[in-house]
Amino acid sequence: MARRKTLITGAAGGMGRACARLFGNTSDLVLADVAAPSLERFTEELRGDGFTVIGAHAGDLGDAALLAALTADLAGTEGFNVVHTAGLSPALAGARPIMEVNLIATVKLLDALEPILRAGTAAVMIASSAGHLMPHIPATLALLDAPLAADFLDNIRAVYEKMGDGSDYSNAGISYSLSKLAVHRLAETRALTWGPRGARITTISPGMILTPMGRKEVATPGGKAMQDAAPIGRPGVAADIAMAAHFLCSDAASFITGCDLKVDGGSIAAFRHRAAPASGA
Ligand SMILES: NC(=O)c1ccc[n+]([C@@H]2O[C@H](COP(=O)([O-])OP(=O)(O)OC[C@H]3O[C@@H](n4cnc5c(N)ncnc54)[C@H](O)[C@@H]3O)[C@@H](O)[C@H]2O)c1
Repeated sequence: MARRKTLITGAAGGMGRACARLFGNTSDLVLADVAAPSLERFTEELRGDGFTVIGAHAGDLGDAALLAALTADLAGTEGFNVVHTAGLSPALAGARPIMEVNLIATVKLLDALEPILRAGTAAVMIASSAGHLMPHIPATLALLDAPLAADFLDNIRAVYEKMGDGSDYSNAGISYSLSKLAVHRLAETRALTWGPRGARITTISPGMILTPMGRKEVATPGGKAMQDAAPIGRPGVAADIAMAAHFLCSDAASFITGCDLKVDGGSIAAFRHRAAPASGA
């Protein structure tokens, strides 16, 4: 009997690997990552451990040929899962590539999936707690909702340069947070058209998670503050995200769509509600 398929993007990364190993217990895997040698090694490791990997595709998610190969692997009569973990953070890249990968490539991925959506399809996009820290300014939201517009990258650059101190680090950090806010909104807007087709779409907002990316971020002031804020009192691990994604793709979550699940150890709650220390304390 054919098993359900699960597409995992960023499969060679920290969360991607954890998701592949969890979802691969009960579904056949389609993997994608731009890091070709790591993806190849991981695919061999999975196959050696008995997992079924239908396809392992090395390439940039913004590339139309890669997206066509992924959707060809997923096509069929059954619903499928998508766990979209591919992304860049300020410790890894500058403001522009962050926006290109985290937002523009995400929109292209969803656009490529739409023709093959089936009843029972469930997609989870990994956003970030950082998206919850951005103000909701109507003009900025309007820009973020149309990232395939020809002048989008120029217009959004003007926004993050104005919001921060203009340094490369500040631009990358704000670009990251804006890209993730936009991904939250994508889940909301796509849920409207996916729902009548029996398909669901959600986001997860991780706090600081100990992955290759997370270890680099936690060495920065912003990343350290996010980790220290978590009232749960331990660092997040990739399995925390994989288990949440697994729940969101399961029948137990069949009434959940168009929303975000924070898996952050309570960091955002703490940022919003923990009283500022008294001066001099
Ligand atoms: N680790 C954290 O603390 C943390 C916190 C909040 C949000 N996130 C988000 O979680 C997701 C996964 O992060 P992670 O911690 O597993 O990072 P990671 O760096 O370990 O993995 C990300 C993977 O995405 C791949 N990738 C990057 N650009 C790509 C592209 N253009 N096309 C295809 N693949 C590409 C990388 O090669 C890498 O293997 C990211 O979207 C990240 O922004 C991470």
